[in-house]
Amino acid sequence: MTKKVSTLTFQKYKQEGRKIVCLTAYDYSTAKILDKAGVDLILVGDSLAMVALGHPTTHAVTMDEMIHHTKAVTRGVTRAFVVADLPFMSYQVDQKQAITNAGRFIKESQAEAVKLEGATPLNLETVSRLVDMGIPVMGHLGFTPQSIHALGGTRVQGRSAEQAAKLIQDSLALERAGIFSLVLEMVPTVVAKIISEQLTIPTVGIGAGKYCDGQILVTDDLLGKYTDFQPRFVRRYANLAEVCNQSVTDYAEDVRRTGFPNDDESFALPEDEEEKLRALLDTFSISHGELSC
Ligand code: KIV
Repeated sequence: MTKKVSTLTFQKYKQEGRKIVCLTAYDYSTAKILDKAGVDLILVGDSLAMVALGHPTTHAVTMDEMIHHTKAVTRGVTRAFVVADLPFMSYQVDQKQAITNAGRFIKESQAEAVKLEGATPLNLETVSRLVDMGIPVMGHLGFTPQSIHALGGTRVQGRSAEQAAKLIQDSLALERAGIFSLVLEMVPTVVAKIISEQLTIPTVGIGAGKYCDGQILVTDDLLGKYTDFQPRFVRRYANLAEVCNQSVTDYAEDVRRTGFPNDDESFALPEDEEEKLRALLDTFSISHGELSC
């Protein structure tokens, strides 16, 4: 029996210098594949708004949609630690809203932790309240997609000494508030390295270089299935869009030339039953589309 991953596992990995493998999933079958392949942490990211639902940004996804997908993911997982992303405007209004929605993820979808973006004073208070209540929280700094309009687009963050220093301060503040892990997105390698060295909790990078304690990618990017755009930090390990396209084209051709299904893919009626059926049909007459004796 494989041991379930917990927040303690990540702490241990950090101490041992062992990298944490993280990926996103939005459905049961993908979650099952990732879990079987030994992924340590599965994030039901709000990137599902873009990747699974076709929205232009992460903003549109709702709590109910996130819960619906998180339920599917947790059903497919036995080992990995599942984190659910608090979507835009599900935690920014006030602490009561944040606590209610974080609680819904744990109660309704069996997620084991939640993630939120930024280190605003409200977020810091929210993190400590959630941690007090027994809900582990993952932080997210650097490029935070929910603030894409304020940040002026998908851009690397912390490129000046002042901005980098602010990122380091925010990381330390989130750690003090109680997060168990921190996502660093689109941050210069050296800044992510300093943060990873300063923090006792593990960092998980996405476009943040090789010194983070773990790495995360959007699974559909890694598999070459989501092709609307490809950020520079993505490494594609497969071209599923091409594989899927070819498979569907082949299927369409088979259907059109009656090459699908064949006899092995269909169900036979025993010969004697077919004979009986034909004899029976001979005694029927068909009028107005109905069978009668
Ligand atoms: O929503 C998401 O998928 C994320 C990861 C890219 C970190 O936040």
